[in-house]
Amino acid sequence: MVICSVLAIFSLFSKAMASARERTFIMVKPDGVQRGLVGKIIKKFESKGFKLVAMKFTWSSEEHLKKHYADLAGRPFFPGLVKYMSSGPVVPMVWEGLNVVKTGRVMLGATDPKDSAPGTIRGDMCIQVGRNVIHGSDSVESAQKEINLWFDQKELIAWQPAVEAWVYED
Ligand code: RTP
Ligand code: MG
Repeated sequence: MVICSVLAIFSLFSKAMASARERTFIMVKPDGVQRGLVGKIIKKFESKGFKLVAMKFTWSSEEHLKKHYADLAGRPFFPGLVKYMSSGPVVPMVWEGLNVVKTGRVMLGATDPKDSAPGTIRGDMCIQVGRNVIHGSDSVESAQKEINLWFDQKELIAWQPAVEAWVYED
């Protein structure tokens, strides 16, 4: 009896874990926009099965980008990074799905494209670290912070893709 209860609780817990859908913040950087890579990048996340929750086309200020990259403020490349990121329009997005933060980073590839594996976005679409076409959150916590920095709550769209039952088994 006790064993059955423990198994039932474990099964419920595993199902809850399996269906936990986290969110990540992904942004096509100014070079990605200028080079016409927006559609190709969105297609990768769509084809994978992740759900688009929010997206906009915006030209961000240096002040806003300093907040976005605040963790890197002490690094020697920080001024160049802020200048690059504010040099043109960007496409910030929120994508949702199982393990999307970690999987999103794998899809982006290593920060420096010389180390990014072929098949990844950076591995296939860019050459230098200072022009690496895309940003992706590095943890669930930073994703939450970044989503709040770039989007209002009402811009995050609650919807159920028609294909969901064909993407997830439970
Ligand atoms: P991101 O935040 O843009 O997704 O990139 P990341 O996590 O892979 O790498 P991170 O360490 O957070 O660096 C942010 C961005 O700064 C530029 N960078 N330049 N010149 C350099 O040595 C250097 N190192 C980093 C890149 O654009 C990197 O994506
Ligand atoms: Mg980062």
